[in-house]
Amino acid sequence: MGHIDGAEVAKHDKQKSCWIVLDSNVYDVTNFVSEHPGGAPIILRHAGTDATEEFKKYHPLDYLTDYLPADARLGPVDPGTFGQLRQIKEEKAVKASDSDSSHDLPHLSLCVSATDFEQAAKAVLPHKSYIYASTSANTGLSLKGNLDDWGRIHFRPRVMRNVGDVDPRCRILGHESPYPFYMSPMGTMGAIHAGAEPEMYKGAVRKGIHAVVSTASTKSSEQIMQRYVEEQESMKRASPTVLFYQYYMPVDRTKAIALMGIVKKCGYKGLWITVDTPVLGKRTADRYLQAEEAFAVGLEESASSWETGGDNAFAPAMGGRPVQGQLSPHTTWEDLVWIRKEWDGPIVLKGIQCAEDAKLAMEYGCDGILLSNHGGRQLHTAPSALMTLCEIRTYCPEVLKKLEVFVDGGLRDGNDVLKALCLGAKAVGVGRPFLYALGAYGSKGVERCVDVLAEELQTGMRLLGITSLDQCRPSLVNASRLLNEMYRPDQFSIKSKL
Ligand SMILES: Cc1cc2nc3c(=O)[nH]c(=O)nc-3n(C[C@H](O)[C@H](O)[C@H](O)COP(=O)(O)O)c2cc1C
Repeated sequence: MGHIDGAEVAKHDKQKSCWIVLDSNVYDVTNFVSEHPGGAPIILRHAGTDATEEFKKYHPLDYLTDYLPADARLGPVDPGTFGQLRQIKEEKAVKASDSDSSHDLPHLSLCVSATDFEQAAKAVLPHKSYIYASTSANTGLSLKGNLDDWGRIHFRPRVMRNVGDVDPRCRILGHESPYPFYMSPMGTMGAIHAGAEPEMYKGAVRKGIHAVVSTASTKSSEQIMQRYVEEQESMKRASPTVLFYQYYMPVDRTKAIALMGIVKKCGYKGLWITVDTPVLGKRTADRYLQAEEAFAVGLEESASSWETGGDNAFAPAMGGRPVQGQLSPHTTWEDLVWIRKEWDGPIVLKGIQCAEDAKLAMEYGCDGILLSNHGGRQLHTAPSALMTLCEIRTYCPEVLKKLEVFVDGGLRDGNDVLKALCLGAKAVGVGRPFLYALGAYGSKGVERCVDVLAEELQTGMRLLGITSLDQCRPSLVNASRLLNEMYRPDQFSIKSKL
């Protein structure tokens, strides 16, 4: 075997032809790159150069003989040209660090967890928009509880269950979904991305997950549906994605009925009535911003008198005060009777926070309930959805059989979806991670966020020892920490009637 010139090695620095030098020998690893258990990027970073130092950090040298065919070894590198290789490598490193520092926004491929999108969004969004997305109620304890409670449930995995193939599909209100999670409704997406809701739902359609569209959207219900249909038509294969409608009930009954008519005509597949927002909660970070803005222009008096309104750019989701004509503080359970007459599709109550109301929803003939505290944006120290789910399991488990029970709030890891399913939920809503992904990267970010959660979910299924979601069951989780803290009524029979 003759010596190989370093300049020749340097030419093979791409995925389609990838050579590396290890321990003074040149290897053609082109066919191995995509199979490398540690991922292709680490090899490609050293393509066309000497990778010995990096390689030794992870592998013994005889690893090569296990993984590469004998003809992958091309021969020894010419010792006289070795120096050139080193120089090329250094130049590459400088170039990479220059291009990295020229952007505040990390490359999309660097987002590997759902939580990564928040920092990315923070780096590029106007401060006011970031505050809108991230703000929570009062001291932030409701949001913190949402985030923390997922970690307070532990898995009880089963092993040796042949988990080679897993099927993460489920049905949500009769519509097949590739995964048991969906996009939560969030208002005013125009503050987050110029493409607003259509850009968000483009990501959903491309990945096939369902989405709930907010009444408080930047674009009209008709525009959103129109763009969704266009997106569907542009797909080679129909996407399973359907759009549901999140309904903030207008105060005026005539307007409320008219809005339902529009929603029906547009073709939304279900009405998700938000019941945790008779008025807006106190969104603290938003209040600071409003106060600072008011103070800056000498309006500090009006900033403190919240009843009279004021800056409400992102109402109703952001304002922090009742929004006349948009939210109805007068809604009661009896309203469900006339709503049912006007709406013949599925009805889900969004924002159920205790077992009694879950039972009432069942008695009033709802099709589903969403256990939610509005992403910790409404009542101070409201229970997490998982806590409410534990209550329902304990005091009125029949609800889990009769209704589709959804949960949302603080979900940041695909594995955690499985915990909710084991405790009887049908699917989990995801809010801010998708919003941050949209803000930072548009629909491509949204797609990436779906992929991140989906991969975690499927790995989670395998490690938990299940191959389909109907195998999720209570014995696969230990929820005793939440159960210990659960509300204990004096009598064991729970009264749902008011
Ligand atoms: C910026 C933002 C806007 C929201 N707007 C609405 C809305 O218009 N209607 C609604 O019912 N819920 C709204 N929500 C609540 C979400 O639907 C969902 O309950 C919550 O975001 C889930 O928590 P997560 O963000 O931690 O995933 C909003 C949440 C956020 C973060």
